[in-house]
Amino acid sequence: MKHFLMCAPRFFEVSYVINPWMEGNLGKVNNPLAQQQWENLRDIVAKRASVSLVEPVAGLPDMVFTANAGLVRGKEFIVASFRHAERQPEAKFFEKFFSVQGYRVRHLRQGTIFEGAGDALFDAQSRLWIGSGIRSESQALDEIVDVLDVEACGLELVDPHWYHLDTAFCPLPKGHAIAYAKAFSGESVAALNHAFGENIIWVSETDARNFACNAISIDQSVILHRASAELKSALKQRGFEVIEADVSEFLKAGGACKCLTLEI
Ligand code: ARG
Repeated sequence: MKHFLMCAPRFFEVSYVINPWMEGNLGKVNNPLAQQQWENLRDIVAKRASVSLVEPVAGLPDMVFTANAGLVRGKEFIVASFRHAERQPEAKFFEKFFSVQGYRVRHLRQGTIFEGAGDALFDAQSRLWIGSGIRSESQALDEIVDVLDVEACGLELVDPHWYHLDTAFCPLPKGHAIAYAKAFSGESVAALNHAFGENIIWVSETDARNFACNAISIDQSVILHRASAELKSALKQRGFEVIEADVSEFLKAGGACKCLTLEI
């Protein structure tokens, strides 16, 4: 059974701008609605996997996006080092949580920016895909390979709207994946086509903007904010069940379903 870490949105708001989605949304989060949406998502996930919670911290509104806490592999946890000062203080709280839970906490080299599982996704073959170019730095890849002894492939993100890999790419079971091509350099699109062949679904701009690629994959279920009829049918044909969980309040901060979870 999969296991996810989530963080309740008690202190969630948009109080600074560090990605294009946050622009114009300062102070615009309806926090009670965010709490309802988060609880609904947690319930959907908890029916299919187990869920642990990390205590939210006042003044750290983006801590709800636990995907960025770090990267977990077995009982090893590589703690994130955030690009923006606004999120940097989160790291010590996540580090504490994981060390109390008995994980071995690992650090990349001082100064290497790495935003955790937001930019590092394992596919069905345990190959690690690492995004860089907007938040995480490309040198994180070699350091992660050294620390975790995994096979990794780098992908270059080129548009600030798709600033984390998990906003534009989601590996699914049995070699399938969904992705949004315009988020990536031409070379990275070619690398994904080469690796996934016909099993990659390239989503439309509308689906991308609805954060359809920011999906939680549990067995045959794909949990996402919203998907077009076309994307639903493409996933259904491949044997997946699509579950929509409205997380509109979190879109205001540039995050959706997958960012609100970290597989541990
Ligand atoms: N406001 C947050 C940020 O810009 C959103 C993070 C979303 N997380 C993710 N894994 N895509 O950092």
